[in-house]
Amino acid sequence: MTAAAGDWQSWSWDETLFAGAAEYYEQGRLPYAPGLADVIARSLNLDGEGRLLDVGCGPGTVALRLASLFEAVVGLDPDAEMLAHASLAAVRLGIGNASWVCERAEALPAGLGSFRVMTFAASFHWMDRPRVASAVATMLDPGGAVVQVDAPSYRPDEVAAETRRGSLPFPPPPDEALD
Ligand SMILES: C[S@@+](CC[C@H](N)C(=O)[O-])C[C@H]1O[C@@H](n2cnc3c(N)ncnc32)[C@H](O)[C@@H]1O
Repeated sequence: MTAAAGDWQSWSWDETLFAGAAEYYEQGRLPYAPGLADVIARSLNLDGEGRLLDVGCGPGTVALRLASLFEAVVGLDPDAEMLAHASLAAVRLGIGNASWVCERAEALPAGLGSFRVMTFAASFHWMDRPRVASAVATMLDPGGAVVQVDAPSYRPDEVAAETRRGSLPFPPPPDEALD
């Protein structure tokens, strides 16, 4: 079958898109809320069973934070460098139930099976959303949930406030100039 124009199979991942970014994720972006894992665990009644799929996992930021809430976590991202950082971070943190899949979300379900929870942390907007949402809907365990995690780094006012407080080592992005 040939891929139609605009179809996900007609384009391939651009390795330069996030090249060199992974190592700056921890130091250059505002962290997610400290209570993130607790809120998700409470809201979804998590009890350590089932699997998590973190789609567009980057360097494992959210997958690793949630790893203790599941039997296993799988992080999926097309950027091999991001996954290399995720894998190293898992070792550093002593997390043994995480695995990493180098693939685009558009390729889901990609034979990965079903999941109790799937997270998208600052990643869904990068994807062919209708296609990915349709695939994800077929991959949830009964009673499972999809969680969209918003990134504070994308809110210029919060970044500016943190910079004024001196908690970020670099100046904020020049959003007005970019506009
Ligand atoms: C802003 S980063 C967020 C990374 C991580 N979830 C976090 O919160 O730190 C966006 C991630 O989405 C990934 N991404 C972009 N397009 C994607 C696609 N089509 N399928 C899967 N992941 C994708 C990028 O490689 C990148 O790691």
